[in-house]
Amino acid sequence: MSKKEVVETTEAQIAVHWKEENYYYPSTKFIAQANLNDVEVFDRFSLDNFPDCYTEYAELLTWYKYWDEVLDSSDAPCFKWFKGGLLNASYNCIDRHLKNNKNKTAIHFVPELEEEKIEHITYQELYVKVNEFAALLRDFAGLKRGDRVTIHMPMSAELPITMLACARIGVIHSVVFGGFSASACADRIVDSNSRVLITMDAYYRGGKLLNHKVNADEAVKISADDGQVVDKVLVWQRYPGKISSDTPMVKGRDFFVNDELKKFYGARVEPEKMLSEDPLFLMYTSGTTGKPKGCQHGTGGYLAYVTAMSKYIQDIHPEDVYWCMADIGWITGHSFIVYGPLALCASSVIYEGVPTYPDAGRSWRIAQELDVNIFHTAPTAIRALRKLGPDEPAKYNYHFKHMTTVGEPIEPAVWKWYESAVGKGEAIIVDTWWQTETGGFLCSTVPGLSPMKPGSAGPGVPGIHPIILDDDGNEITEPGIAGNICIQNPWPGMLQTVWGNRQRFVDTYFAQYCKDPNSKDWRDWPYLAGDAATKSEDGYYRILGRIDDVINVSGHRLGTKEIESAAMVVDEVAEAAVVPVSHDIKGKEPDLYIALKTGVEPSEELARKISDAICDQIGKIAKPRKVWLVPDMPKTRSGKIMRRVLGAISNKGDVGNVMTLANPEVVEEIKHMVQK
Ligand code: WT7
Repeated sequence: MSKKEVVETTEAQIAVHWKEENYYYPSTKFIAQANLNDVEVFDRFSLDNFPDCYTEYAELLTWYKYWDEVLDSSDAPCFKWFKGGLLNASYNCIDRHLKNNKNKTAIHFVPELEEEKIEHITYQELYVKVNEFAALLRDFAGLKRGDRVTIHMPMSAELPITMLACARIGVIHSVVFGGFSASACADRIVDSNSRVLITMDAYYRGGKLLNHKVNADEAVKISADDGQVVDKVLVWQRYPGKISSDTPMVKGRDFFVNDELKKFYGARVEPEKMLSEDPLFLMYTSGTTGKPKGCQHGTGGYLAYVTAMSKYIQDIHPEDVYWCMADIGWITGHSFIVYGPLALCASSVIYEGVPTYPDAGRSWRIAQELDVNIFHTAPTAIRALRKLGPDEPAKYNYHFKHMTTVGEPIEPAVWKWYESAVGKGEAIIVDTWWQTETGGFLCSTVPGLSPMKPGSAGPGVPGIHPIILDDDGNEITEPGIAGNICIQNPWPGMLQTVWGNRQRFVDTYFAQYCKDPNSKDWRDWPYLAGDAATKSEDGYYRILGRIDDVINVSGHRLGTKEIESAAMVVDEVAEAAVVPVSHDIKGKEPDLYIALKTGVEPSEELARKISDAICDQIGKIAKPRKVWLVPDMPKTRSGKIMRRVLGAISNKGDVGNVMTLANPEVVEEIKHMVQK
């Protein structure tokens, strides 16, 4: 990004931004019970004690063998944490709890249809199911340590069972969000070279039973065209007979897990002793190019980090009922529904469907029914619930001690409704800023130690040392001035690399600020997060939004290039440009501008065809607000599409001086079309 663009973005962002708010303080009742209420933690985790301070997090886990070295930087920036240590993630999330807690609920699963038929799976039951499925993966699917497996499943108890079974035998899982299309799933199958796909027959969403298995058929076909053969499709069956007629099982390739599992009743699988630095999973995320990148997370570092964050920032105690509303198909679900809470022996809630169906009281009814006391959601859900049912929470008998918001900046007015209406004035709130790449939280208040400030994430969590840099790498120390937020030190939860593409890893996160690409010293490798942020006098960070070509739709990350590439697949399209447009519930939505090939007439039908192509290739979450078929793109004289101008038009802002463009007249035409 050029310096000029930084100034333009940040000024615009500051202009729409809110003022610093007053503090809210945690109650003495909360502080007294908090897992972390000892101020000295910040000294213990100062840069002077780096990296040894992180052993405090690693000691929350059970190791077969302790590490030889806390941090190995010899292949910087591919850092290895707790090198030489041996452990297993499934053992840490299940086996070690059996002695004292085998009858405790590990997972509450709330289905959409017949909401009252909640499944309560104890740690013992989880142990049995994970062992049996691990045996199936090993002995029937032929998977072994280091293999990759793609999992395309909706929210269900079977999803964490599948992940933990993979972890048990050292298979690297790559979970694809269930709402992603077959084509998006195929891209991830190909990139990770998965020869086994695990899926589910169907699921409910918003009152409809959706055939999910059909995506697997399509994904396998596309993968084969791209050179990756999937020889086994394992289908978990929740609704026998309901969708089978229109989705036949392919003989020799497709197998119902439920049938095959019968052969493995009673099977027990010794957990693989994994090296701390062995990968645990891949999670693909959008970036600046069309191709999503596979963030590779390691076993020991990642698990230690998310366990510590669950304990100290989420304040999870074993007796809590904890509900994170995210989908397990995103990093939030991996870290804060599955790995962190289960490593702490908590009861974790999983629900199918959406928070507003069948009514805006659903979330609070579930909270009441299960006596949830820690609640974790995203601004987009809070906005939707506030709009649809502002008075609903008061009708239900539940009490939260702790709530999280994550995924995008939260407006102070929305924060305040969350605090007073949802939290009933009794719950503390943490606004956690982090990313798929970072495994766990970067900035947040420590709930038992620091006051909250609506709209600000807070300081770095213990062990994270953020810094705001200008484009030349100078620190911006003046409060309220925006720049690129970076982390000065590596930390155990960070991605190890981009799967199969170390260069992309280095280029994306480190190239801009690394002074010496051959350096083995971690101090030379500040991590570039890709967000603009300001720091206020009290050291709290406020995240302003992405500085790159990423749009955050309902807390889900989409690459503008990814959407543009999907549009370009339509024959008639000559050029495509995506810009984010503000939306009162979703935060942002993509607006799509299209220039058609010469001679092609614009039509409603063509606009629909382009929109459908995007849903097909990525998924419904990427559906543009509107497809604008414009006569030409506004361009610089060197031919670059001026997305900034299009963004201003979509958001009814000031387009600025456009006279230097190659075709200034088109700006008025587009404005007329969009703003009429
Ligand atoms: C991007 C990462 C973190 C898990 C969910 C999203 C934005 C995330 C916050 C927050 C303001 C936030 C950033 C970040 N973001 N949390 N608390 N306040 N913005 O993970 O899909 O990797 O997206 O989400 O822009 O870079 P992700």
